[in-house]
Parts: sequence; structure tokens; C-alpha cells
Amino acid sequence: MQQRWSPRAFTDAPVTAAQEASLLEAARWAASCFNEQPWVFITARRDAEPEAFARLASLLSVNNQAWAPKAGLLMFCFHRTTFAANGTPNAVAMYDLGQAVAQMALQAVELGLGSHQMRGIDLERARTELGVPEGHEPVAAIAFGTVGAPSLLPEKLAEREVLPRLRKPIAEFAHAGQYGTPVKL
Ligand SMILES: Cc1cc2nc3c(=O)[nH]c(=O)nc-3n(C[C@H](O)[C@H](O)[C@H](O)COP(=O)(O)O)c2cc1C
Repeated sequence: MQQRWSPRAFTDAPVTAAQEASLLEAARWAASCFNEQPWVFITARRDAEPEAFARLASLLSVNNQAWAPKAGLLMFCFHRTTFAANGTPNAVAMYDLGQAVAQMALQAVELGLGSHQMRGIDLERARTELGVPEGHEPVAAIAFGTVGAPSLLPEKLAEREVLPRLRKPIAEFAHAGQYGTPVKL
């Protein structure tokens, strides 16, 4: 978990089918409400599936297109908004999708790959151009690849690549018993 971070500099190294399978296997075993597994991933490997990869890359925001298409694997993440069994709204589907993605991000570390999640995508085009059935919502994309040197990036992004990673202290988000009571750790 300490080794996971969100790089933007990726080398030319491909992501293999076996690595992609391992990532998706990690997603597959995520917990989900009623074991609904409401996640859907549309994936393309840069070298093996260049047309599909270009289509996914074209759905990224301009800012993300500056670096993410160098990665070996792109994935677009959707969740099904209703339960398959009875069609009622699944209020935690996006939460479940997030868990599946978190597991992939950690599996990427295990595989020696970097991962970078992106909300900067064209949601409308992702909804209409990837063939995902109605009732699914796009949430984010993920770039996976071998992490490269910051010097592979344009100057501004190279500077951001080496900034310290910051987090809130635990006391800001964890409360003992009720909000406002500091946790005793
Ligand atoms: C749902 C989500 C959406 C994100 N969207 C973008 C994005 O569009 N572009 C980008 O460069 N980084 C994006 N990020 C990366 C975050 O900025 C990054 O995770 C955060 O700054 C913490 O850094 P770390 O992942 O290196 O710990 C996104 C991360 C998440 C989880």
C-alpha cells in the first residue's frame, strides 16, 4: 500500500495479457453488496489492441491525453446502477466499483506496474461509444504501465511527478464514537 502512487511517466514496456488477467482477477474478488459485482471494465492494451487503445485514449480529457496514452493498458470503469435480481437502485454500486479498482491498484504494485486513475474522461462519449448497455454509468479510467523517469514528461508534469505525497492526519477523518471526539490510537 505504501508503494502505490499515481505516476504519469510510463515507459514503452507493454502490459501483457497475463498481467491484465492478474489485475482483473484482483478486481473479481472484491467484496460487493449482495455479491452483485456491479463493475464493468472496458480495456485495451496499447501494443496488442492499438485500435481499441486509440479509441479509449480519445475519450480522455486533454490534460490526461498528455501522458496517459503512453501507458501499456487503459481501462474504463463503469458500474451497473440497479441490482440485477430486482431492478431496484444499487446505492453502493460505485462504492463496490471503487473497491474493485483499489484491489487492482494494489495488484499492479505486486506486478511491478504503476496505475493512475482518472476522472478526467468524456463521460457522454464513454456512455455512448463503448457499447456498454444502458443502466451502466462510466466513473473513471485507469492507466496501467511500467513507471518511467519523470524526464519522459513535459516539464510541468515532470515537476508534479516528484512532489511529496500529502495526506490528512488520521484525526481529521476518524472520530471516536461520535463526530468531533478524537480517536485514541
Ligand atoms: C477517482 C479518481 C480520479 C482521478 N482523476 C485524475 C485525473 O483525471 N487526472 C490525474 O492526473 N489524476 C487523477 N487522479 C489521481 C489523484 O490525483 C491521485 O490519486 C491523488 O492526488 C493522490 O495521489 P496518489 O494516488 O499518488 O497517492 C484521480 C484519482 C482518483 C482516485
